[in-house]
Amino acid sequence: MDESLKMRHVHITGVGGYLPERILTNAELESIVDTTDEWIVERTGIRERHIIDENQHTSDIAVKAAMQALDGAGVKASDLDALVVSTTTPDMIFPSTAAIVQSKLGAAGFPVWDIQAVCSGFVYGLAHITGMMEAGMFRRVLLIGAESMSRILNWKDRSTCVLFGDGAGAVVLERVDEEGGMMGSVLNADGSYRPLLMARHPHHGASPDTPDMCVDVAGVAAVEMRGNEVFRIAVSKLGEVVGQVLEHCQTEVSELDWLVPHQANIRIIHATAKKLKMGIERIAITVDTHANTSSASIPLALNDYYRSGRIKKGQLILLEAFGAGFVWGANLLRWTCP
Ligand code: ACO
Repeated sequence: MDESLKMRHVHITGVGGYLPERILTNAELESIVDTTDEWIVERTGIRERHIIDENQHTSDIAVKAAMQALDGAGVKASDLDALVVSTTTPDMIFPSTAAIVQSKLGAAGFPVWDIQAVCSGFVYGLAHITGMMEAGMFRRVLLIGAESMSRILNWKDRSTCVLFGDGAGAVVLERVDEEGGMMGSVLNADGSYRPLLMARHPHHGASPDTPDMCVDVAGVAAVEMRGNEVFRIAVSKLGEVVGQVLEHCQTEVSELDWLVPHQANIRIIHATAKKLKMGIERIAITVDTHANTSSASIPLALNDYYRSGRIKKGQLILLEAFGAGFVWGANLLRWTCP
């Protein structure tokens, strides 16, 4: 038997993040749509967001986050056994953004694929990669959450365009002997809710009979959301799933050091924290400066809180996310990066 298969603990050994240089403030948004800084801050907690350069793709910001994570773990892209990108804003319909990132990192010779679970993509990715690693398929995997949400927004719709931002976060996962790392995950979904939050396919309706069909991404494939209903169901499902993952791992809320939630809205975050009876000082919050970066939001928050010295080795961390579909989930892990 391969000795490495006995090393069943899957750890995050490196973390990285990247936010595009351009910052779009609420004040600037006031000149784009009929909104105010006061409304956005009060309803969402968002003050500003980063916007990808017009010449960049999702894969470009993914590569920047990946390089930082690889550097942190002390490994090269050529040392990886697999590379996974979670994104709802891929560079292309195909090939996968993961294939593009692999090539931009100068690597080849291992499997790559994308995950589409919208804002829950990173939580889903952690769960399924951990399972594959524990089953002995891989020893070292790079998971990236990367999004250019600004590309799928209707910049005339004030109810959605103020909510999102662009960015990328990444982790290196390695199977090692040391205790700790990934402890358990709970995933769930209910596709019947899909009309409440969606972005239509830009080519929907294309056929040999419609050769002149206009592809207007801003009008056809933009985020459409019934915010109020999304809010209500998000709070309820997140409350459920955090309880389920704690029960699954036989862990008490009092043992947690950090809740690192998907960063969609400060009021959703506070509601989940309240259900857990966790004080705000134990909640990672980046929504004020990042906005909702979909599947990039959790690895970006992990990176922020780790690099600023707030997340420390040995701490117990609960991740949770909710997104279109609806799909939702949570992971529990013991942080082991030095
Ligand atoms: N500026 C000013 N007014 C606005 C804006 C804006 N940007 N957007 C909407 N309004 C108006 C509405 O038109 C409405 O006006 P009316 O009363 O005259 O009709 C009023 O504000 C209230 O609108 P609501 O939609 O009821 O406001 P609500 O308090 O629900 O806040 C929000 C809206 C922030 C979108 C909230 O519902 C929310 O956060 N929902 C969850 C959204 C979310 O998190 N989505 C992502 C989760 S899944 C994922 O991450 C992909």
